[in-house]
Amino acid sequence: MFNIILFGPPGSGKGTQSENLIRKYGLKHLSTGDLLRSEISRQTPLGTEAKNFMDKGQLVPDEVVIGMISSALDTNPQAVGFLFDGFPRTEAQAEALDKLLKLKNTEIHVVLALQVSEGELVKRLLGRGLTSGRSDDTNEEVIRARIHEYNKKTSVVADYYGRFDKVKKIEGEGSVDDIFTALCKEINLQ
Ligand code: AP5
Ligand code: MG
Repeated sequence: MFNIILFGPPGSGKGTQSENLIRKYGLKHLSTGDLLRSEISRQTPLGTEAKNFMDKGQLVPDEVVIGMISSALDTNPQAVGFLFDGFPRTEAQAEALDKLLKLKNTEIHVVLALQVSEGELVKRLLGRGLTSGRSDDTNEEVIRARIHEYNKKTSVVADYYGRFDKVKKIEGEGSVDDIFTALCKEINLQ
């Protein structure tokens, strides 16, 4: 198994690059944001709970997302590897993920961390908000709150994996193709 975390702030291009990476490497894409939005659109109790946090740009409680990832790992036993997008977002989530992967005799091989300035993030997300229908993209206050949550709770996840020398920084501004090439180069070195 080969497992990657695609890491970066809101709007850094995780979803965009994930689509290309899973096609090239045959990995199973696990995006907690996508899983939560699917719960919301199916109007499940979990979705209803999560929506309250997401609409404010706040992180959903750890136990909710860890539970979702745990069952996604169990329902994909045939996967050649996983691409985690938007997870883990706290140190507690990172520790939980390590334990879950260990139970399956595997681990995170590399954390690819997209580097994008705050001005560019806000510009991209406001732009996407014009058409995405995502309630957390439509106003700048919520976008800033998401970036604030990232700086306060999520950026430490890179330090966590840095202790195991697993983090590779990738320039996240430029063309989608150039960034994809840089990501592939790093994966091929593993
Ligand atoms: P989530 O869905 O994960 O969203 P996010 O991390 O806030 O970021 P985005 O998905 O908006 O951005 P992205 O990095 O995927 O960029 P994208 O490729 O779309 O999370 C949403 C919410 O769910 C959270 O706020 C939280 O409440 C909850 N949640 C999710 N996971 C959680 C967890 N683990 N724990 C707790 N809560 C959790 O690109 C963005 C835009 O930029 C697009 O329009 C794209 O076309 C454009 N773009 C991409 N690349 C480029 C480029 N190179 N140049 C110019 N534009 C570009
Ligand atoms: Mg995304």
